[in-house]
Amino acid sequence: MNFGGTLRVNKFACFTLVFILFLVIYWRTGSSSFPMDKTDLINLKSVLKASIQVVERGGKKVMEGKSQELNIKSKGKTLEGVNDPVTDADYASHCAMYYGLKNTFPKLTVISEEHSKSDASCVDQPAVDLEQPLPGHNIIDYMYDEMVYVKDVTVWIDPLDATKEYTEGLYQYVTTMACVAIKGVPIIGVIHYPFPPRTYWGWFTKRPSSNMPVVSHKEENKDHPRVVVSRSHPGKVSEIATKAYGPKTTVSSAAGAGFKVMEVVNGTYDVYLHATTIKKWDLCAGNAIIKTVQGKMTTIKGEAINYSADSNVEVKGGILVTRFDHEYYLDKLPAELDEVH
Ligand SMILES: *[C@@H]1O[C@H](CO)[C@@H](O)[C@H](O)[C@H]1NC(C)=O
Ligand SMILES: *[C@@H]1O[C@H](CO)[C@@H](O)[C@H](O)[C@H]1NC(C)=O
Repeated sequence: MNFGGTLRVNKFACFTLVFILFLVIYWRTGSSSFPMDKTDLINLKSVLKASIQVVERGGKKVMEGKSQELNIKSKGKTLEGVNDPVTDADYASHCAMYYGLKNTFPKLTVISEEHSKSDASCVDQPAVDLEQPLPGHNIIDYMYDEMVYVKDVTVWIDPLDATKEYTEGLYQYVTTMACVAIKGVPIIGVIHYPFPPRTYWGWFTKRPSSNMPVVSHKEENKDHPRVVVSRSHPGKVSEIATKAYGPKTTVSSAAGAGFKVMEVVNGTYDVYLHATTIKKWDLCAGNAIIKTVQGKMTTIKGEAINYSADSNVEVKGGILVTRFDHEYYLDKLPAELDEVH
């Protein structure tokens, strides 16, 4: 009797000892394999929260800019000869977004479509309050922290996508976007519509924002695909789409890469086909979101786009975005969409 009792006590003591030993070993190896300063790491969950807040700050600037003098300047012409405008609202949004992030995470690499004017009114943006509740996005508080090396992270921001349409009063196409890429792979995308204000996000391998529409796959859509193309340079891309996908294809045009990707995400279109050169800040957020909902964005050669900071900001030759049946739509395209000029 007594013997059994002793054994039980010993077993318990043994277990505790082994457990403590394990903890000590774990702690020792843990600290020895991470000799770096804590500030070399960044929590992706915090970057997501900050991104939501800065796209919304940018969106406010864009909305305020609408009722002010736009001060439209030209950044030149696109390859297709379309005027590429920039307004004071682009800069105001850039300042709010870029310095909102930089003043929160000084070591973070942020690439913006616009360049900063170094005046204090641009630079002096309040840091993001990471504890602030985000109405509609409180699901984030239930997600796990994820620490990554800050040197591996590149954030791409577009302070005002569809500037041309903004100057024309076509506000529905306008978005502000932020995207987190790790070693060049787009992981978190955040797209905000200022008119009316609403924000969507996707964290690849985790989940999309709760407001993301659920869309079911329809096999028959392949027979009559709905394709969306660029409003400012549709070029021959509608012709290419009809030729590739058959006479029952319907082609619509819309503005803003962010807007168009979201229309594929929400099932309004099956395919977004872009034939000309496009910049990575236009694509990155949508790329992360479409991946989060198991869709794809590739070049028309089927290659993934690399968003590392040292890569070329331009993607040439065309891109294809689908939520379903990517390989099907890719295989039907010609090898080159040489439709520019
Ligand atoms: C993207 O390119 C960078 C170099 O520019 C490279 O280090 C990185 O591994 C690439 N990422 C992918 C996913 O290929
Ligand atoms: C998709 O988004 C567009 C524009 O925001 C909206 O008009 C449309 O109703 C949405 N469709 C779905 C299925 O959510």
